[in-house]
Amino acid sequence: MKQMRNRGMGLQKLLLIAVFFFADISISENRFAGAQEPDGPTASVLATIRNAVSDSSGSKPFTFHKAPFTQNTRDLPIGVFDSGIGGLTVMEAILGLDSHNNKTFQPKPDGVPDFESEQFIYLGDQANMPYGNYASVGKLDFLRELILRDAIFLLGKRYWKDSSAQQPSLDKPPVKAIAIGCNTATAYGLEDIKTAIKHWNVPVFVVGVVDAGARGLLELSAESSKPQATIAVLATVGTCNSGAYPRAIRSTLGLAGRQIPTVVQKGFVELAAAIEGDTQVLSKGSVREFIERDVLDLVEEHRKSGDLRPISTVILGCTHFPLVESQIIAVFKSLREKEVDGQLVYSKLIAEKIEVVNPAQLAAKELFRTLASSNLRRTHDAVQHSKKVQFFISVPNPSSPNIQLTADGSLEHDYKYGRATQQFDVEDTRFVPMKQEMLPVSSLNMLKTSLPNVWRIFSN
Ligand code: DGL
Repeated sequence: MKQMRNRGMGLQKLLLIAVFFFADISISENRFAGAQEPDGPTASVLATIRNAVSDSSGSKPFTFHKAPFTQNTRDLPIGVFDSGIGGLTVMEAILGLDSHNNKTFQPKPDGVPDFESEQFIYLGDQANMPYGNYASVGKLDFLRELILRDAIFLLGKRYWKDSSAQQPSLDKPPVKAIAIGCNTATAYGLEDIKTAIKHWNVPVFVVGVVDAGARGLLELSAESSKPQATIAVLATVGTCNSGAYPRAIRSTLGLAGRQIPTVVQKGFVELAAAIEGDTQVLSKGSVREFIERDVLDLVEEHRKSGDLRPISTVILGCTHFPLVESQIIAVFKSLREKEVDGQLVYSKLIAEKIEVVNPAQLAAKELFRTLASSNLRRTHDAVQHSKKVQFFISVPNPSSPNIQLTADGSLEHDYKYGRATQQFDVEDTRFVPMKQEMLPVSSLNMLKTSLPNVWRIFSN
């Protein structure tokens, strides 16, 4: 038996070596040269992890109280976090998910939402977003610390009632599981959070959107039973630089014995902000124009690479992109028909039918499965709307020493990107309950029109 397992392991290793060898051929290396794959934990990551449990009461900034984790945690809420409100698309996918039988856990819808009995804490680190731009200004270490702080907040009980409260409050429920809704935070922080959880020795699991998205390709190819052609990953610049999606795709499809596809990526600089209605960004162009520009860049780059396998699958690797899915697909379709000097230059590079992977839906499914297999599903009946999700958001703390704010009260650019790591007594942003008046009208409209499950609870 042991021998058989060893032989199995040997075969698995051989398969892995083969997979990575061929993967490097099919994913052109120069296209991902300079990928900033996060190394193991850095000094500031380790210091943040140690600091988190340095105050056993969890009342100091960036610390949490471990005692709740010595009891059964199944009735605690689930934490979902993102760099901002874009992750509410993931919250929407979770709330709307019905892909399992709630009693038998079989992967078949039963007309009952999969998370009907669960409660959630949603956190959007709005004051420090966009996460997608920290890597390109050399602030990866600081970003990794921000991501760990999000997890620490979710595990703890500490928050502020508002940005000018005198004392923090300590009555937020801790969470039993963490779903990272943000692609950039998954790319740069998932491994750090896993390391931290091990160090803290708490019975909490974490799922991220990137691996879930890559696993979604398995479902697709099984459905269509067509060999993959080219997969296009649309994400933030940070997520693309990390190389997280190509890596996850290679290992997921490789381990499943599937053909390794060509992967092309495009980091969209402004689209997430434009979708949220950022007036500064929208003064430079419309949502449609940003999509047209960046999709054209992506397809052009693919054309120049000489690899003619058509783009048949698009991964929406940014929280905001599911909100404009139909526009993105329409742009790919119109490029397919575009003539340049009488020639259909892109028609062979874009498949007639494009399949879309929304990592949010796949992460929601993975969350359900892991909850069930860890025996951590909440034991109560369905939860009323008013108690279903507690929403938190970060806001600048105007009384923090040396803080610099813009006229509209957000962190000033140079201050934001000039901050040092390991400043555990500087709380220049505070986690507070999210209220409607804190969000711009454009964001509220986005929630109302596109995220009905979230809106029903948030507007309650
Ligand atoms: N939530 C981010 C993501 O999915 C997009 C916005 C940001 O850059 O913070 O990558």
